[in-house]
Amino acid sequence: MSDTVILVENLGKKYVIGHQQRLPYNTMRESMVRGAKSFGRNLLKPFGQKVPNPAYEEFWALKDVSFEIKQGDRVGIIGRNGAGKSTVLKILSRITEPTTGRISIKGRVASLLEVGTGFHPELTGRENIYLNGAILGMSRTEIKKKFDEIVAFAEVEKFLDTPVKRYSSGMYVRLAFAVAAHLEPEILLVDEVLAVGDVGFQKKCIGKMEDVGRDGRTVLFVSHSMNTMTSLCNRGILLESGTLCSDTSAEEASRIYLNKAFSVARGTPLSQRRDRSGSGKVRAYSFRILNEEGREEVSLESGKDYYFEIGYHNHTGIIIKDVVVSLDIYDERDIIVFLLRTNFTNSNLELKADRGQIVCRIKNLPLTNGLYRFSIFISDADREILDYIEDAASVSIEAGDFFGTGSPGLPSHCKILAKAEWSTS
Ligand SMILES: Nc1ncnc2c1ncn2[C@@H]1O[C@H](COP(=O)(O)OP(=O)(O)OP(=O)(O)O)[C@@H](O)[C@H]1O
Ligand SMILES: [Mg+2]
Repeated sequence: MSDTVILVENLGKKYVIGHQQRLPYNTMRESMVRGAKSFGRNLLKPFGQKVPNPAYEEFWALKDVSFEIKQGDRVGIIGRNGAGKSTVLKILSRITEPTTGRISIKGRVASLLEVGTGFHPELTGRENIYLNGAILGMSRTEIKKKFDEIVAFAEVEKFLDTPVKRYSSGMYVRLAFAVAAHLEPEILLVDEVLAVGDVGFQKKCIGKMEDVGRDGRTVLFVSHSMNTMTSLCNRGILLESGTLCSDTSAEEASRIYLNKAFSVARGTPLSQRRDRSGSGKVRAYSFRILNEEGREEVSLESGKDYYFEIGYHNHTGIIIKDVVVSLDIYDERDIIVFLLRTNFTNSNLELKADRGQIVCRIKNLPLTNGLYRFSIFISDADREILDYIEDAASVSIEAGDFFGTGSPGLPSHCKILAKAEWSTS
């Protein structure tokens, strides 16, 4: 087993959550996930039941996770929010200790985790480059050789002698990535911080990671973007609530992930779905998303134009006028991000007496990357609900050029993109 570079055996990580204490700053998403969890727990708690210690609670972020990584593997680590992906990388980069199990690593590790790790805020860009090189065991001469390449890649020439705490998050991530990827680590760990950079820079990073992989070095990459993950990685590890769910090819892992995450929406064709309400006088029997050229798409891009097409059967045999149709779009956390509803725009529809298509065109799709689900609602004005299906379809949206500037928005902080005009007076 000489080409094994990472061996993870029965890894477990327990956190003790103090409910009273303020949460340390992690990411907003993490806090929200935790908030949602305790809300759920409170709902499930039988009335009047004694809770052993309300102030503290044990929580296993990872449970009995084992895998082996060979030299040159490019591994995508995927899973829903809170699945334990970042925790795995934090343990591998020795930022945090495992509670149970063990890891062995052969080779120099460089990691790019959430913004805030790896760099010393008070030190300048230049000093941080040297510091990180030294941590990786490189000599000053070796670092010097790489220095210009790093600075050029990160595009931070002008700010080299500024403390990194004054950097914008984009500059910070650009430099952190350039350092991690250029200082010739044998193992590179990257935790989707790429989402902070602009689209052009993300592409550059993916290219660089491909180079690192081609050199026979090992890359572990946490991502929510299935397109990026499958194009970069040859293996995929899917985590589910802290346990390893699949360890397979990148494509297979991505397929399992999308299927699981949105199993209801994907499992049964719309025409066969029984879990629907409404009178049934009209039924939606198909849902497709078409691009500008009329081709069907399953993975969309922010900023592009699309047609949402609902195929319907009208069982009444007569034309129905003033029909309200709504597409409700939910994010991964089950929050409705927006409704596309005919009566908002005075565009209530007339349905043919037998069958036809309802088409909704959306220009410049204003959603950041992630997974979304659609519910379909059709009613006869406000007289009667004809058909209502929750989770009628699911779709993965990838970062695109909504603003026309290359900026992806800030997908870790927001779901909806909007253009604004700024001025001073
Ligand atoms: N320091 C901590 N204290 C308590 N709980 C934590 C801590 N760090 C992480 N957790 C919890 O452990 C679980 C796994 O977190 P982790 O950050 O590994 O998830 P993730 O898969 O990276 O999620 P995301 O996709 O949102 O980044 C989450 O429920 C998270 O809230
Ligand atoms: Mg994470």
